[in-house]
Amino acid sequence: MRRMAVFASGTGSNFEAIVRAARSGQIPAKVVLLVCDRPGAPVIAKAQATGIPVFVAAPKTFPDKVAYERAVLARLHEKDVTFIALAGYMRLIGPTLLNAYPERIVNIHPSLLPAFPGRNAIARALEAGVKVTGVTIHYVDSGIDSGPIIAQRAVEILEGDTVETLSERIHRVEHVLYPETLARLLKKENPMGITYAKERMF
Ligand code: GRF
Repeated sequence: MRRMAVFASGTGSNFEAIVRAARSGQIPAKVVLLVCDRPGAPVIAKAQATGIPVFVAAPKTFPDKVAYERAVLARLHEKDVTFIALAGYMRLIGPTLLNAYPERIVNIHPSLLPAFPGRNAIARALEAGVKVTGVTIHYVDSGIDSGPIIAQRAVEILEGDTVETLSERIHRVEHVLYPETLARLLKKENPMGITYAKERMF
């Protein structure tokens, strides 16, 4: 059974969806750690309620990003984590973690990348007047939502949509697509152990 960590900074609805899918056997992995960079974030209580250990630390309490990521890495090693899913983790992953987990970190983003990378993707799609947006799951590299795309699903923007109504529909898609994609990735023999240039997962 693979041992995975989820990184999150906020509400944690994707964290919950992943935990549910892992516990039901849909994802062949055990969620053994939540890493949270925002003390007080609602996701922490969700992890505690489900009995999942939490590492919570504000990066600004460390001398620099390397020191923060080394502390995270120590906890990941302690828990024998081999795979990381970012779920609303509002921070760029630095070389310390990227080098320790090459091609073993994935992220979910609420747009059809490469459109609308970065923050406020849902609001920016609405402002731009596009008629279709969606959800992307991708490998994490050193850029902002720039790693190779693994899976995408479209969500139509409807007449009269607001950030709230559109976010709700996007979240519903996320809660299905993320577990589904993690399940497909983790069922592979060597899920992230191939390089981008070679055969892709899908
Ligand atoms: C999701 O929309 C995800 O795509 C983005 O951050 C949001 C996190 O939501 N990266 P939640 O905390 O999982 O509810």
